[in-house]
Order: sequence, then C-alpha cells, then structure tokens
Amino acid sequence: MAANWKMCKTPAETTRFFEKFRPLVEKSEHCEIVICPPFTSLAAAVEAVQGSRVGVGAQNIAWAKEGAFTGEISGPMIQATGAAYTLVGHSERRQYFGETDETVLKRTQAALQFGLTPIVCVGERLEDRESGATEAVLARQFQNGIAGLNELQFGKIAIAYEPVWAIGTGKTATPEIAADTHRTLRAQVRGKFGKQAADSVRILYGGSVKPDNTKALMAQTEIDGVLVGGASLDPVGFASIVNF
Ligand code: PGA
Repeated sequence: MAANWKMCKTPAETTRFFEKFRPLVEKSEHCEIVICPPFTSLAAAVEAVQGSRVGVGAQNIAWAKEGAFTGEISGPMIQATGAAYTLVGHSERRQYFGETDETVLKRTQAALQFGLTPIVCVGERLEDRESGATEAVLARQFQNGIAGLNELQFGKIAIAYEPVWAIGTGKTATPEIAADTHRTLRAQVRGKFGKQAADSVRILYGGSVKPDNTKALMAQTEIDGVLVGGASLDPVGFASIVNF
C-alpha cells in the first residue's frame, strides 16, 4: 500500500503525519507500506518510521549518479536519506515534465543500480481509453520502457497502473476495469519475461483510491495493492486504506 504525497508536506508536517499514522498501522502486517514524500521531507520521514514496518520512497530519481543535471536527485542521494523505494514515470512527470518511456527505463535502471525498489507507473489518458487505444498505449509504455530490463532486474520492480483520467479527478476505475487492465499488463509481461514473472510481479492500482473504495478494488485478485495520492495525506484516511 503506497502513498504518493506529490508536492505536499514539509518536514515538520511529515513528522506530524507519522505521529498519528504509526500507531494506526502498528499491527498491519498483511502488506508492505510505503510513503513517498517530496525529496526535502525524505529524511524526516525516514527518521519518523524508525523501528516500524513502514518504508519510505522518493517520487523520482535521476538516471545519472552525479553531474551536471540541475534540479535532479540521484540514487546515491536518495539512498543516503535511508529511503528504499522510488516512484518512476508518474503520469504527472510524463505530462508536465517531459518524461518519456525511454527516460523511465533509464531511471528504473538507476534505481535498481543503487538498491532502491522502483514502483514504475504506467497508464492511459482519457482520449486513449475513449478511442479504444488503452492496450496499445500500455504496450508502448511497456515495450519502450521496462521491457528493456533484464529478467533479474524485472523481478525487483513493482508496477503501478494509474489511468490518467482517474488521477485526482474523483473518477476511480471500477474494480472490473482496473482488474481487466491489470490482466492486459500481465499478458504483456508474460510475453516478454514468461509466466513466472507475470504471476509474481506486483501491480498496484492508482487513481482516486479512497478509504471507501479500497476494499472493492483489493477484492480483485489481479490488484496487488494501491498507490494513493490525495487520500494519503490524511494519516487516519491512509491508515484506513492500509487496513481496508
Ligand atoms: P490520486 O493520485 O489518488 O490523488 O488520484 C494517485 C497518484 O497520482 O498516484
């Protein structure tokens, strides 16, 4: 169960979140819990989760180790904060910051190189779904992106399926649409990496996940977890998603 705070919460706000959140998930052993705050709050988050099962992740990662890349944050820098995960290829990165399938692959490789677990995001836009292009768009994102990993690398990533039309819009994909699309993604994985990789890769659903729709989404065997934006900012709300 992963939280994407996007551009929200200072270090002080992060500390306050965990004061409320930690006791609520102390006994939640059924899943892995990961919170992805902004870079500037990573250290505060890592400190706040000490001694708990909660993991911390970045929201992006540079493809290079260091150098002339103004505004970027590298794998070793993220690792030095104590974070163990990173999102890659979030649709907001793709939409507003020129992220491409090719850079998603490079960033994913960098995450693996520096020992971070990448959660790689894919998803179609509204016009893709309406024109019946969902499968083709996901196939392109997969083929030009994470299909470039080797089998060993692929075994270490998680995928987040986030239809762009469902992100921050209040329009959740129905559990059936989400599960159906996860099946499509798994078929693509099977074609490239084989049945075992397809069966074991974790695919999270993201897009307007809330406390009151998590149970129905998680009831689909195809959905292995959720990636939550807006509803993860409230400690009580996100804890109730974790404990669906
Ligand atoms: P949302 O965002 O839950 O606010 O729709 C999800 C995401 O973008 O990861």
